[in-house]
Amino acid sequence: MSPEAGQIWPVSVPRQPRYNRKMPPDWNAGLYDASHAFVWEFGRDLLALLAPQPGEHILDAGCGSGHLTAEIAQSGAQVLGVDQSAAMVAQARENFPLLPFEILDVRALPFRDAFDAIFSNAVLHWVQPPEPAAAAMARALKPGGRLVCEFGGRGNIRILVEGACHALHQLGVHQPERFNPWYYPSVAEYSAVLERCGIEVTFALLFDRPTPLQDGERGLETWFRMFGSRLMEPLEHAQHPEFLRLVSDYAAPHLFRDGSWTADYRRLRIAGRKTPHA
Ligand code: BEZ
Repeated sequence: MSPEAGQIWPVSVPRQPRYNRKMPPDWNAGLYDASHAFVWEFGRDLLALLAPQPGEHILDAGCGSGHLTAEIAQSGAQVLGVDQSAAMVAQARENFPLLPFEILDVRALPFRDAFDAIFSNAVLHWVQPPEPAAAAMARALKPGGRLVCEFGGRGNIRILVEGACHALHQLGVHQPERFNPWYYPSVAEYSAVLERCGIEVTFALLFDRPTPLQDGERGLETWFRMFGSRLMEPLEHAQHPEFLRLVSDYAAPHLFRDGSWTADYRRLRIAGRKTPHA
């Protein structure tokens, strides 16, 4: 399909760009829904910044299992949820069978001047370099259309990443930072990316959001098994318990209290508008 101005869906899926090696091969959508509800629960107040209006066309970029897509739909907007993970899209379709979901990589959105707004929660820290995603979102917005997104910002999960690198080093992995899959930009860095792609930044905030993990004492392990598989890639499967023990020992003085773990999240919340001439 060649993207038409104003065309929204149905979409046919274009050839995907090379697989983003930083993401896990595919997500465990069941574990995500069962033990990581905080991802969309915290994303809810981002919806106030989006302020979806009835009849608007809105893209949820990186919709995961669809919970926030469904909340956007409740405003009366026409929303399309897209995610590069087939497992997440299958889960989203099962959770919300009346809503449209497609498997699409945010860097390869096949839309031009199609959406009044794009929303993205807890996704863009997986996407680096950031420009292809920012450019694809800018193309997909109508002139004057809004982008509202939130993801890990500078300093996000510093203790967890330090703990993981320390553990990998202890287990004999050379230059463990190579296995860090995440991109956590500052306000200035990501604003510059958006502006280069034709999106004027209207709001930006970097803030601490200590995030309680579910599963009590096992919370750190559950989190790593969901999100941190790439950091464990250089290890044999049999080394995973030792890795998790070393990370826990490193992080516990900072992040473990009264029987549960709190992840040291920092969010970058940023909004902008596609400049009319872009
Ligand atoms: C985050 O939402 O900040 C995040 C999620 C998964 C892995 C790393 C960070």
